[in-house]
Amino acid sequence: MRPYTREKRFKTRSVAGTLAIAETIAEMLAAPRVVVLRGELGAGKTTLVKGWVAALGAGAEEEVTSPTFTLVHEYASPRVKMYHLDLYRLETERELATLGFEELAAEPATLLLVEWGDKFPSVLERADAEIWMTALQAEERSLEVRWR
Ligand SMILES: Nc1ncnc2c1ncn2[C@@H]1O[C@H](COP(=O)(O)OP(=O)(O)O)[C@@H](O)[C@H]1O
Ligand SMILES: [Mg+2]
Repeated sequence: MRPYTREKRFKTRSVAGTLAIAETIAEMLAAPRVVVLRGELGAGKTTLVKGWVAALGAGAEEEVTSPTFTLVHEYASPRVKMYHLDLYRLETERELATLGFEELAAEPATLLLVEWGDKFPSVLERADAEIWMTALQAEERSLEVRWR
């Protein structure tokens, strides 16, 4: 697996803080990229995507909901297309292929934000960045971004 060469850490104490960090990360990691969002349920991965989509003008925060059952949600601005994936319910590489992961990842000017992408070696292999989110206590969260 290709190593990550860059790393940045953040800490936040509120949802608003996470949304603000999403803006910074959105600038740091420009499309085209595949970003794996790692962390337990409730860590704040979907919340981060809300801020990210809003930061790029691809949608409003409240439009962004978890794609747990739908698997893929799409957002777009004139400049960038965003796919928000949640692979929690997927079990096999075959299901991933049926979902069209490779095709989505190959689209130009596209950002793929993939929750639970770390379940699949093929997604980790394809990733350009990883963001680890950890719930520390109450509303406190840490974020570790690694990219190349
Ligand atoms: N600092 C924070 N950042 C993100 N979410 C937070 C924070 N503090 C509390 N929360 C709450 O934690 C939950 C995170 O949920 P969600 O973003 O769906 O997580 P995940 O997608 O990782 O399962 C939400 O209910 C949110 O309101
Ligand atoms: Mg989620």
